[in-house]
Amino acid sequence: MIQIGNVTIPGRISLSPMAGISDSPTRRICRKFGAAFSYTEFVNTDEIIHKAPKALKMFQFHPEERPITFQIFGNRLEVIAEAAEIIQELKPDIIDLNMGCSTRKVSLRGAGAGLLRKPAHSGKIIEAIKKRVSVPVTAKIRIGWDSESRNYLEVAKILENSGIDALTVHGRTKEMAYTGLADWDAIGEVKTKVKIPVFGNGDIKTFQEAQRKIQEYKVDGVLIGRNAIGNPWIFSEIKKEELSWEEIRKVVLEHLRWMMESFGEEFGILLFRKHLVKYLSGLEFDPLWKSELLEIREYARFEELLISLRSGTSLVLH
Ligand SMILES: Cc1cc2nc3c(=O)[nH]c(=O)nc-3n(C[C@H](O)[C@H](O)[C@H](O)COP(=O)(O)O)c2cc1C
Repeated sequence: MIQIGNVTIPGRISLSPMAGISDSPTRRICRKFGAAFSYTEFVNTDEIIHKAPKALKMFQFHPEERPITFQIFGNRLEVIAEAAEIIQELKPDIIDLNMGCSTRKVSLRGAGAGLLRKPAHSGKIIEAIKKRVSVPVTAKIRIGWDSESRNYLEVAKILENSGIDALTVHGRTKEMAYTGLADWDAIGEVKTKVKIPVFGNGDIKTFQEAQRKIQEYKVDGVLIGRNAIGNPWIFSEIKKEELSWEEIRKVVLEHLRWMMESFGEEFGILLFRKHLVKYLSGLEFDPLWKSELLEIREYARFEELLISLRSGTSLVLH
């Protein structure tokens, strides 16, 4: 258990926010298998203050997802603070500022990881958010803009002094994007320098590795991103490679049904494809079967095709 302000997080391992991936059904399936809390995809504060329906829809969630963190990004203090106040009405447990997005569109305009270049300004943003909302406020950072400016300790200290309630550190610089390896020593260093809870993030491949990272680097918790796609079991002792096809199929269908509840049948199935590809990775089967599966637009046919594949026929785990 981790305490973030007045919010109790019932575990130490959770799903990292991923735009285009960590939507409500996906967060819910991960929570079901043990992810400690939920974290929305990042949402643009400029769109929030204009009450753009598309932006506000990103904050819809299922009660089973709680505790839930709403993540926002932006570069202007007033806009971010106002957006935080607006989304507080939607009853998040925590509000998080994205200080890690490395895409050019976001970071070059001073949002996301762009905020790492202005630590004092970032501290003022946190203070401004804290004045406008009563829920705990957190941030997710990278370790710096590039290898010449790894200012994670400075940023962490400033944010702590601004009243932040917890911090997540992805152990890469903005320049690295997703290349190279996350620097876990840097993450561990942050933990030794601040008193607030710290989550470490980057490259975790298994539940056992997550537990080792927590012990070795003394972080309060860890977040898993890419390796949780198509593998919600990563948040538990269950190993996907030890599951039968029937057990995997049950979760695939449940996840898909929840996608359809949120997005409708056709769009839900379409959005599910990127998850499906990951659920199926590591499994071997007839390529024709897979390509037909990826073309389907109706749930009934999808289910029929999944059920038509019996374990021990063309399916091999490797
Ligand atoms: C497709 C994708 C989308 C992402 N979107 C977000 C986001 O919206 N907010 C955020 O803080 N991080 C985002 N990230 C970064 C992840 O949360 C995480 O920090 C990063 O993937 C490293 O963790 P991993 O090695 O476990 O994947 C995204 C990453 C990926 C791959």
